[in-house]
Amino acid sequence: MVIAAARSVLRRGFELIERPFDRLFGPTLNPLAQLGALGFFFFWIVAVSGIYLFIFFDTGIERAYGSVETITNDYWFHAGVMRSFHRYASDLMVVMVVTHLLREFAYDRYRGARWFSWFTGLPIIWLLYTSGITGYWLVWDKLAHYVAIVTSELLDWLPIFGEPIARNFISTGTLTSRFFTLMVFMHVAVPLFLLFIMWVHILRISRPKVNPPRTLAVLSLVALMAVSLWNPAQSQGHVDLAKAPVEVGLDWFYLPLYPLTDLWGRGAVWAFLGAFFVMLGAMPWLPPLRRAKAAAVDLAHCNGCERCAEDCPYEAIRMVRRTDGLPFPTQAQVNTSLCVSCGVCVGSCPSSTPFRRSEELRTGIDLPDFSLKTLRERTVAAAQSLTSSPRILVFACAHGGSAGRVGGTVVLPCVAMAPPSLIDFVLSRKLADGVVVAGCAESACYYRLGVAWTKLRFAGARDPYLRARVPRERIATVWASALETRRAAAEIDAFAATIAALPPPRLRSPAPPTPLAAPADELRVRESVESGS
Ligand code: HEM
Ligand code: SF4
Ligand code: SF4
Repeated sequence: MVIAAARSVLRRGFELIERPFDRLFGPTLNPLAQLGALGFFFFWIVAVSGIYLFIFFDTGIERAYGSVETITNDYWFHAGVMRSFHRYASDLMVVMVVTHLLREFAYDRYRGARWFSWFTGLPIIWLLYTSGITGYWLVWDKLAHYVAIVTSELLDWLPIFGEPIARNFISTGTLTSRFFTLMVFMHVAVPLFLLFIMWVHILRISRPKVNPPRTLAVLSLVALMAVSLWNPAQSQGHVDLAKAPVEVGLDWFYLPLYPLTDLWGRGAVWAFLGAFFVMLGAMPWLPPLRRAKAAAVDLAHCNGCERCAEDCPYEAIRMVRRTDGLPFPTQAQVNTSLCVSCGVCVGSCPSSTPFRRSEELRTGIDLPDFSLKTLRERTVAAAQSLTSSPRILVFACAHGGSAGRVGGTVVLPCVAMAPPSLIDFVLSRKLADGVVVAGCAESACYYRLGVAWTKLRFAGARDPYLRARVPRERIATVWASALETRRAAAEIDAFAATIAALPPPRLRSPAPPTPLAAPADELRVRESVESGS
């Protein structure tokens, strides 16, 4: 209950910013829809600027501070700018990670089969913070001293180290440079491990967006350059181990918990962190998502064309060696633990053709809980319920702004589940005067690729195409989020008005009952199946 309420409030917050932004600048420029990609982008900036800084950085504790000062003052126009890039891009990574986490939560894209991406996101946070904190250590200024002391105190509270390490930072006499060397090593090694976990994080996602659109990348670079020149990263005076560091300027992106160590005590900080991450880790199961049955392959109708594997947004389909003796090298195989039951594969299969006469409409890959046959039945029933003119049939995504529309609406898990031939079927059989395909907002497709695949299929740029014979003026797409019900309804009404103004459709002989755009191979499978050979 509390979690659902928090999700709803956050969702409203995101939509309040995102939807007007989408309309003003276009969905591809929406940075909130590119947070993962921007996370990668800033990681690369941090990595490149870090390598550059290492050329000038002296890794010995005696000269580290001096080398950073040289970078900042003497070589300000290149290495100094790089230092600022390094710092501000690291800060931006924290912003991206936190906002990305909140957005995936707000749009409920972390439960069910998506638990993996959520779960692997959590070590990313720890690794990112460890990278940042060890980085502050290397400057060996007053802030580094403060970070060193508080970190050591925090670590000392854990029963890991035999001897308290905080003591090392209290007086010059007992200080060894070993910790400093360890920090230099960690500041290189931890980000490498972070990159590895970032790779693991997106393993179960097809075509993950790891590069932001060029315009967004250029704008981010320009902004970084502007901030770097306006407010270059500076050190806070050489460390004085004889004095306790007071009055240091904190980086609130990386060190927000440090002042709390004094206020709450170390045990309370660890307890807070432990409880927070246990709760985050449990989130995908609080409560668990009610999962529909995974997609299932019907080998008799699968010709191994790979389209479903190409289109699946969650890497849930693999092509494997044929097992049923049909003359195709491969067949589709669904990994049920990865499948989110979006139905995108059903829409991509060449066997998914509603024109087939057979009562038992079967296709190569189908959703057991909502089959293509059911989809055709609901389509026909919804069309028959249309009484007023013009008759507008709506295929509505269950997660978009038209899901609650009453009358003449077929609700699907994702609009990309509807094969383009279904629209051809509706219009060529004169079941409706116009068809609306109403999905999620373009920059927030619940199943990631549903909107993109639908657009490409309609444009004839991705199999299965919407056939050329389908009158384009009788089709509209509406991309609106679940909170934009009014805009979705207004767009459908406007489309109905344009349909009303069109001349009545030319009477054609009924469409032949042959399948649509099915490749020859696929036809052969079907023929062999239907003739029982
Ligand atoms: C450096 C940090 C991170 C980077 C670079 C990153 C990057 C990405 C990318 C590129 C995607 C795929 C987006 C797409 O193409 O649709 C993704 C998905 C996801 N991320 Fe992250 N991520 C990071 C941290 C996190 C964290 C901390 C969490 C939460 C604990 C998280 C949760 C998720 C979830 C749940 C998805 C799956 C969304 C879906 O299935 O539609 N990520 N991430
Ligand atoms: S329903 Fe199909 S496309 Fe969607 S996740 Fe499952 S296998 Fe992939
Ligand atoms: S025929 Fe259908 S089920 Fe088989 S590989 Fe092609 S799209 Fe997938």
